Amino acid sequence: MRVLVTGVAGFLGSSLAETLRAQGIEVRGVDAFTPNYDPARKRANLSRLLRDPGFQLEEVDLRIAPPGSVLGGATHVVHLAALPGVRPSWGESFRAYAEHNILVTQRLLEAIPRGRAVERVVVASSSSIYGAPTRLPTPEDELPRPISPYGVTKLATEALVHAYRHERFLPAVSLRYFTVYGPRQRPDMGFHRFFEAARRGEPVTVYGDGRQTRDFTYVDDAVSATIAALTRPVPEVAYNVGGGNRVSLNEVLDTMGRIVGRPIERKHVEPQPGDPRDTASDTRLARRDLGFEPRTALEEGLRKQWEWQRNP
Ligand code: UGA
Repeated sequence: MRVLVTGVAGFLGSSLAETLRAQGIEVRGVDAFTPNYDPARKRANLSRLLRDPGFQLEEVDLRIAPPGSVLGGATHVVHLAALPGVRPSWGESFRAYAEHNILVTQRLLEAIPRGRAVERVVVASSSSIYGAPTRLPTPEDELPRPISPYGVTKLATEALVHAYRHERFLPAVSLRYFTVYGPRQRPDMGFHRFFEAARRGEPVTVYGDGRQTRDFTYVDDAVSATIAALTRPVPEVAYNVGGGNRVSLNEVLDTMGRIVGRPIERKHVEPQPGDPRDTASDTRLARRDLGFEPRTALEEGLRKQWEWQRNP
């Protein structure tokens, strides 16, 4: 097994690559080191992997590079490279979202040869494809109606996965990750910002009343689901990957206050356009087919993230 991980320097990519290496699996990673946040952080994510001879890194921008050239004899592909983040995807920045998320996925899927040289392709999707779902927890057959341009690009990547699976018999599957957190979480994401503010003794900025809920997913659980999707039969074209920790932001901030040892001061501002009010994953399909079982409770995961933010 030789796994190509795109977006390997990111939060999920670097965590996945380390777990695969710990299992003795050869990993080839590609990353463009896009400056959506400080690329030095992305390099830091790779520091352990870069000392490992079973890991190979190629710096390429998949918008431009001939994607066939990056496959490098991979038997399995995990496509995580994307421009993430729900709130900044409006306006002029949509062009970049469309290129990084839709165009790159199409180019990569197109480059994978027919036949079974590549045994499985796992593509990162997002809970944001559901928008304002009619059912909570939300099963995979909910009509996807994203409410952010970012969610639209993720829905388009899923549609590409479906098309290549249906017509080109590509063994591809999408995973709908629900707000992943833990060590190495992106600095633009909620928990990272909140702990950072707490560390500095500054108030946190809460979008809206803080009663919005998320089904937060610990990074190791997201990694386990990803590895299962690489290796197990996947009768469905998309699976929810959610931690089963649906809580409000206010509850999260209370827990964070206990962890850092003092209450977290909050500044409430307007809700942000594109932010779903609530997310909750119905993970029955992931349990059935991927053996998915989230293992990390929210407080334990938050403690690990706090440890990392204090001593990266
Ligand atoms: C996250 C990722 O950023 C997306 O890339 C991913 O696709 C998505 O999860 C998903 O699950 O589909 P989000 O849920 O917005 O998006 O994650 P956070 O940035 O951690 O935000 C969580 C909550 O905290 C949101 O309600 C957000 O409005 C709130 N928040 C975030 C604040 O109140 N203040 C902040 O400074 C940041």
